[in-house]
Amino acid sequence: MKSISVIGSGTMGNGIAHVFAQHGFHVSLVDIKPEFLEKALATISKNMDRQVGKGLLTEVEKEASLARISTFTELEKGVVQADLVVEAATENLELKLDIFRKLDQFAPAGAILASNTSSISITKIAAVTQRPGQVIGMHFMNPVPVMKLVEVIRGYATSEEVTKSIMELSQTLFKDPVEVNDYPGFVANRILMPMINEAIYSVFEGVAGVVEIDTVMKLGMAHPMGPLQLADFIGLDVCLSILRVLQEGFGNPKYAPCPLLVNMVEAGFKGVKTGEGFYRYS
Ligand code: CAA
Repeated sequence: MKSISVIGSGTMGNGIAHVFAQHGFHVSLVDIKPEFLEKALATISKNMDRQVGKGLLTEVEKEASLARISTFTELEKGVVQADLVVEAATENLELKLDIFRKLDQFAPAGAILASNTSSISITKIAAVTQRPGQVIGMHFMNPVPVMKLVEVIRGYATSEEVTKSIMELSQTLFKDPVEVNDYPGFVANRILMPMINEAIYSVFEGVAGVVEIDTVMKLGMAHPMGPLQLADFIGLDVCLSILRVLQEGFGNPKYAPCPLLVNMVEAGFKGVKTGEGFYRYS
């Protein structure tokens, strides 16, 4: 594989484009507005500067990596040469289904179509294409250049060959891939989101304050961020939507989102991206 198309240039999309370009792949980064793409390139450049500062990348390698990224505002043009497409658009089922119908139409017949979805069913996404065996989940973690995990999700129809090639490809990015099956929340969010929800319930029920809850988990369990800070970092709207996928997918009330989380999202307090969640960000 040489040519990778990344659909969506937000936090995850620009991180995914960053790591592929850094490891020698030609990247076509696609988004709907030129200003989104400009912002993404500036973010990648800034994040590569951190790596240059730490000696993980030279200035020359940084420039060569950036030169391997082309940008497109038309999906049709951005995927014509793709060996692999990684979709990292907003976490919305209808939007993703629409994108995959188009990818199936415009990407080469042999291309693998991957989604970075954090919880939407790969099987459901694959079913709108004519190549369900070539559709797979490639779930990177935020911040993508730093986090080692790629959760590789096999949909019901994903072929053995495609799974193997995505596992190997992840290793060429110096990531540690883990193969999982396609059930609600996969593994990462099936375990992470109930913990975050329980932390929010602990605030809601007045068990302890926000800082105190995060401190217990940071110092007591050696988590790099407390669950409430992590929820802000992921986005409270994203946490809410993943919990709803779990609740609906398993039909089990244990996944019901805490009413405080629902209220915060409805009020527009979505965490880092809106400037306020459990903490304030200036
Ligand atoms: N690009 C490149 N490098 C980056 C970076 C980026 N975007 N963000 C951070 N870094 C680097 C920093 O330069 C720094 O490097 P050194 O330690 O070598 O100096 C290192 O990462 C740590 O960063 P900071 O010093 O800025 O801050 P920190 O020590 O607090 O670490 C963190 C930041 C890596 C984000 C850490 O807090 C952490 O691991 N948090 C938990 C992250 C996590 O759980 N992510 C998964 C979220 S869930 C998800 O993504 C999936 C989902 O479906 C919801």
